[in-house]
Amino acid sequence: MEVCVTKVALVTGANKGIGYAIVRNLALNYAKRSSDIPLTIFMTARDPNLGQESLKKIKHELKSEQILKDDGGNVDLKFLRLDLTDEQSIKDVKGVLADDGFDILINNAAIAFGRDEFDVNVVRFTLATNFYGTLNICNHLYPLIRPNGRIINVSSSAGLLNILSSSKLRKEFSRDDLDMNGLIGLMKKFENDVEKNKWKEEGWPTKAYGVSKIGLTAMTKVFARRADSEGKNILVHACCPGWVATDMGGPNAPRNLDQGAKTPVYLALDEDVVPKTKNGEFWRDEKVVPW
Ligand SMILES: NC(=O)c1ccc[n+]([C@@H]2O[C@H](COP(=O)([O-])OP(=O)(O)OC[C@H]3O[C@@H](n4cnc5c(N)ncnc54)[C@H](OP(=O)(O)O)[C@@H]3O)[C@@H](O)[C@H]2O)c1
Repeated sequence: MEVCVTKVALVTGANKGIGYAIVRNLALNYAKRSSDIPLTIFMTARDPNLGQESLKKIKHELKSEQILKDDGGNVDLKFLRLDLTDEQSIKDVKGVLADDGFDILINNAAIAFGRDEFDVNVVRFTLATNFYGTLNICNHLYPLIRPNGRIINVSSSAGLLNILSSSKLRKEFSRDDLDMNGLIGLMKKFENDVEKNKWKEEGWPTKAYGVSKIGLTAMTKVFARRADSEGKNILVHACCPGWVATDMGGPNAPRNLDQGAKTPVYLALDEDVVPKTKNGEFWRDEKVVPW
């Protein structure tokens, strides 16, 4: 059997914001652990120009740390194009990882429309990216994740169950036996209820982003249960980065990018995470919090 000689991580939406900081902090924290095993981090972005620019920028920022391969260290950074809404780009990434598999997937990419924007098109577009896009990546890459691997989904406290006014919906989303078909059914129901103009009476909020993140956290739990039942020995967790000053979070957010990256990077690398909790939890500030 071939021995794994390099750890491999992949971060989505890494050209800016929290995703960019996740890549930088993954590199710094991994290097601090002085492991003999090198780490390759694939920074991914939907726009190749923005992705390549960010790769250059981060390499420049990390130069003085001497942790990157080019500077004699054991962390290698590479760029791959990945658009959550473009299945071919997901398949291309899968092709790159297929031979040796990978160890860490951080699903960070997402979109959010403005607070006042809400109609069925906003709902469809938001779910297509944040929910179905992330699901598609997980479906394609799940078979390639190596033992002890980790899937971290960057969700949000804007997607807590209490934004649903219907207790029936809250119960459905948090059922221990919810499977992926059941979850997709709930997401479709949201879309249909919005289309038929009856989402409020059905107990949904007027929030496409929030519901997409409820779906993402529920998806995390479904994958975690699946991994456990298959004895796959991987961690699957969701987390909230807190309110972070990015294009999405706006300039008034109290957290900077590195603070936003803290919990995702902790979940991706830290050994403490394993004995601390069961699989499929929702985390914030390096702690499991109620969803
Ligand atoms: N900022 C906050 O306060 C906050 C709070 C809670 C949760 N979060 C979550 O944290 C994560 C990062 O957010 P952020 O604040 O860093 O947002 P951001 O600055 O808007 O960055 C979002 C990233 O996702 C990428 N993206 C969007 N659609 C994509 C697609 N179809 N395919 C691939 N990449 C796509 C963007 O690429 P482009 O540059 O090409 O648009 C960008 O790289 C998100 O999951 C967000 O929901 C953020």
